[in-house]
This record gives sequence, structure tokens and C-alpha cells, in this order.
Amino acid sequence: MRGTIITKTLTAASFAMLLSAGAASADGDVEKGEKFFKKCKQCHSLEEGKKKIGPSLYQIVGRKAGTQPKFKYSKSYVEAGEKGLDWTPENLIAYLENPKKWLAAFLEVKKAKSKMVVKYKKQKDRENVVAYLESLQKAE
Ligand code: HEC
Repeated sequence: MRGTIITKTLTAASFAMLLSAGAASADGDVEKGEKFFKKCKQCHSLEEGKKKIGPSLYQIVGRKAGTQPKFKYSKSYVEAGEKGLDWTPENLIAYLENPKKWLAAFLEVKKAKSKMVVKYKKQKDRENVVAYLESLQKAE
């Protein structure tokens, strides 16, 4: 009986390691990412300068955080940008899991402000959507 429990724990641990090992690469599925982006679309446009509830995500990959003109960001985003935060694929993938928490960690503060309250738990979904955003810029 005990033996089974230990085996199960070990399997879960190695599975978690596999998942985090995949975290470094942004090689998601562009088509799946495009579908997934529908979730972002309620709040984000891909048109240059067009704000919705959130800032435009036109050329977001590589952009400095909190820098869309005319968009009124929470101050944590502006501070993160000033502290050197660029939206690299790796940063985007990590941020989308829990925007508020990730920003707080980046700024090394207890709490960050974020009006983006959604969280995307699945690593694959995040990789796919970032791959999609990247593909838009490569096409230009
Ligand atoms: C319910 C609305 C909502 C949804 C859904 C949403 N966002 Fe956001 N997002 C926001 C808001 C609002 C901000 C600005 C946050 C602030 O200033 O506090 C933001 C900020 C961002 C930023 C920072 C932009 C910058 O210029 O620094 C990125 C990147 C981002 N969102 C990506 C995404 C992606 C990708 C998705 C879908 C997977 C998504 N968001 C879904 C509302 C949303």
C-alpha cells in the first residue's frame, strides 16, 4: 500500500519537472494560438494604437511594458517598463499564468497593481498564443 503512494508521488514529481523543462521555449502551435487569442480579443486589439479595455497588442513581442501611448496603465506596468521589462516570449508566457503575481515578483514588491485579472493556467495555451503573436510580427 505504502509503495503505491510513493510511486505515485514520484511520477507526479517527474511530470512537473518535464513541464517546467518545456517552459523555456516558445515553440507553440500558431493555429491553436490564433484560436486561443479569441479570449484576449474581448480586451485587446491587434491594431496599432487601438485600445479596448486593455492596451493594443500590436507588436507586443519585444515591446517595453507599459508603453502604449494613450493607454492608462496601472502604475506597476509603467514601473516594470522603467525597470527594463521587455515582453520577450519567455516573459509573456510566464506573465500570462498570473499577471499580478508575476509583476509583483518582477518588481520585487509584495503586491503589484494589474487590471488584467485573468489567468491562463495551461502552459501549452500560453505557448501557443505567444507563438501566434510572434508569427504576426514575422509576417510583416
Ligand atoms: C478581461 C480583459 C482582459 C483579457 C481577457 C486579457 N487582458 Fe491583457 N490586459 C488587460 C488590461 C486591462 C491590461 C492593462 C493592465 C493594467 O494597466 O493594469 C492588460 C495588459 C496586458 C499586457 C501588458 C501590455 C503592455 O503594453 O505592457 C499584455 C502583454 C497582455 N495584457 C496580454 C494578454 C493576452 C495575450 C491575453 C489573452 C491570452 C490577454 N491579455 C487577455 C485586460 C485583459
